[in-house]
Amino acid sequence: MSGSLAGRRALITGSSSGIGAETARWLGRAGASIVLHGRNADKVAAMEEELRAKGVEVASVIGSLDDPDAARAVASEALQIGQIDILVNNAGGSASGGGNAQWFEASAEEWDTTFRANVLSTVAMTHEIVPAMKERGWGRVIQNASAIADNPISTIPDYKAAKTAVVSFTISLAIALRGTGVTSNAVSPGLTVTENLRGWIESLGAEHGWGTTWEEIEKNAAEQMFPALVARTGRPEDIARAILFFAEPGADFITGQHLRVDGGMALA
Ligand SMILES: NC(=O)c1ccc[n+]([C@@H]2O[C@H](COP(=O)([O-])OP(=O)(O)OC[C@H]3O[C@@H](n4cnc5c(N)ncnc54)[C@H](OP(=O)(O)O)[C@@H]3O)[C@@H](O)[C@H]2O)c1
Repeated sequence: MSGSLAGRRALITGSSSGIGAETARWLGRAGASIVLHGRNADKVAAMEEELRAKGVEVASVIGSLDDPDAARAVASEALQIGQIDILVNNAGGSASGGGNAQWFEASAEEWDTTFRANVLSTVAMTHEIVPAMKERGWGRVIQNASAIADNPISTIPDYKAAKTAVVSFTISLAIALRGTGVTSNAVSPGLTVTENLRGWIESLGAEHGWGTTWEEIEKNAAEQMFPALVARTGRPEDIARAILFFAEPGADFITGQHLRVDGGMALA
């Protein structure tokens, strides 16, 4: 396909759904070959079919990113497909559950799981994929962190700390990649409604009496959960657009940056 990313191949971890799937659509539309990744083979196959029908060159890798060994296995399989020019470290989440865990409810074991999935797997993936980008003199490493990395809250402390580590990782990696033609940046979403989050927000809406239609519930969620300056929740395309921005050749003067796409929620 033609486009700003024609001739580049992008591996997007966690692209079987949500923000990662939308990122695959945006990068594919910009001409990149896409390597999809997820744990659920059926979801990955459905995405693969969707992209192929749109004329995108696409392949996929299945596997968990629960620890560094698992990440190395996914990376090695992806590299067998071909060279990776753009690595989007997107997969992640919280082990302490559902976004509601209070500080003392999040166990040390849950912190461990969250750090392995969000931080250590990302480190291992980067160790496997990025040296070849350096040798070729061109590459993009883009992390999906979170706006709560900059926004002190006491719930899901494991997740907040892990995402803060992802931001730190992004900046130190950018410094390590000085002068190589490979950039490292992070995008930090605010509350972004994916298929998976919508059900959770609807159940919170029922609990808090936020209304009966999705429009009412979404408006109340945007105002009450993570109040922002823009009166709506985020959409996967808001985040995919920012990831594409960092991936494009024209962004070669931008590295070590952390771009919050959160409607103005975290202003620090
Ligand atoms: N949505 C938000 O409001 C929001 C806000 C800030 C940051 N983020 C970050 O954005 C990223 C994507 O989130 P999302 O909301 O789009 O999530 P999602 O819709 O639940 O999708 C998560 C994707 O990551 C994969 N995944 C999750 N944990 C994995 C693991 N341990 N090993 C391998 N694959 C794993 C899933 O694969 P399978 O389903 O195939 O298993 C799926 O493809 C995450 O890093 C999240 O922390 C999201």
